[in-house]
Amino acid sequence: MLVHAIPTNITYEFAADVRAGLTRNGQKELPSKYLYDNVGSALFEVISYLPEYGLTRADERLLRRHADEIADRVAGPVAVAELGSGSGKKTRWLLEAFCRRQRTSYYPVEISSSALAMCERELRDIDRISIVGFEREYLDGLLEVAAYRKSGQHLLVLFLGSTIGNFDRPAGTKFLAEVRRILEPGDSLLLGTDLEKPSSQLLAAYNDELGVTAAFNLNLLARVNRELGADFDLRQFVHLARINDELRSVEMHLQSKRRQVVSIPAAEVVVEFQEGETIWTESSHKYSIDEMVETARNAGFRCEAQWIDEQWPFAENLLIAE
Ligand SMILES: C[S@@+](CC[C@H](N)C(=O)[O-])C[C@H]1O[C@@H](n2cnc3c(N)ncnc32)[C@H](O)[C@@H]1O
Repeated sequence: MLVHAIPTNITYEFAADVRAGLTRNGQKELPSKYLYDNVGSALFEVISYLPEYGLTRADERLLRRHADEIADRVAGPVAVAELGSGSGKKTRWLLEAFCRRQRTSYYPVEISSSALAMCERELRDIDRISIVGFEREYLDGLLEVAAYRKSGQHLLVLFLGSTIGNFDRPAGTKFLAEVRRILEPGDSLLLGTDLEKPSSQLLAAYNDELGVTAAFNLNLLARVNRELGADFDLRQFVHLARINDELRSVEMHLQSKRRQVVSIPAAEVVVEFQEGETIWTESSHKYSIDEMVETARNAGFRCEAQWIDEQWPFAENLLIAE
């Protein structure tokens, strides 16, 4: 696979974001994109196998069952871009459906170089596929992919696994509108959305018994130690999953077990934590089936079709750029 590696000074940006997030007034926070270094990407892969976390399996069931129908509904010839591909495992079903029809270019866009490498290993054996990976942020990568488009070719963008849920609702709509601006009329977006479900099921999914999600979350502090020379004592923080009823989301936090002071040399900051204080690291917003139709319209798309999983409420939404 040809890989376009990240061109910017990622450590500098990481340090600036950590400093801003941990010194802001009120709720401390760290952007969720930093959960995915090589350790975080490997742990996320394990999470997708946990019995409590049905989301990935629901997404995969839908893609497997409806791959041919999805490929038929997307006007060809088509190139496929995937935002935040992760390991790309469940994308196989769709890519095989497209490659049965024609030779297909696949462009995974990933911030995590190890996820991008996993994705290539996972999918390179598909007949008639060509893979070019972009180690980039979502929109930067999509802009480059769009520049690769051949004349007369449509683009299908995949944003699977309900990663859209990491944005709050207004930011999610804005993000989809930005994706739309990069696309041309007739291009499509296949968007996975996790649907609302009982709190007990959601809390179990984001705080599994084995503690893999806790390790995934705590790895963010370990990453700050490794890359920015910080002295977080990981045993003095605990993983929390909380329901936010108003925002219809599950939040992940890291809670300080006691009053403590942490120094982060590369971010040129010393941070004080009170006992019980938390760092907010990720939100996963949950959707109703109908709201995506309106959200899509507000972002410049028409909802062409939806497929819903019966075992774990999850929707695949095929949106067409108008
Ligand atoms: C929730 S995981 C989903 C992975 C996969 N799509 C799935 O459904 O299982 C989100 C993926 O997006 C990547 N990611 C997160 N923030 C990103 C960003 N701003 N730009 C590009 N990739 C990002 C992560 O590295 C991770 O692999």
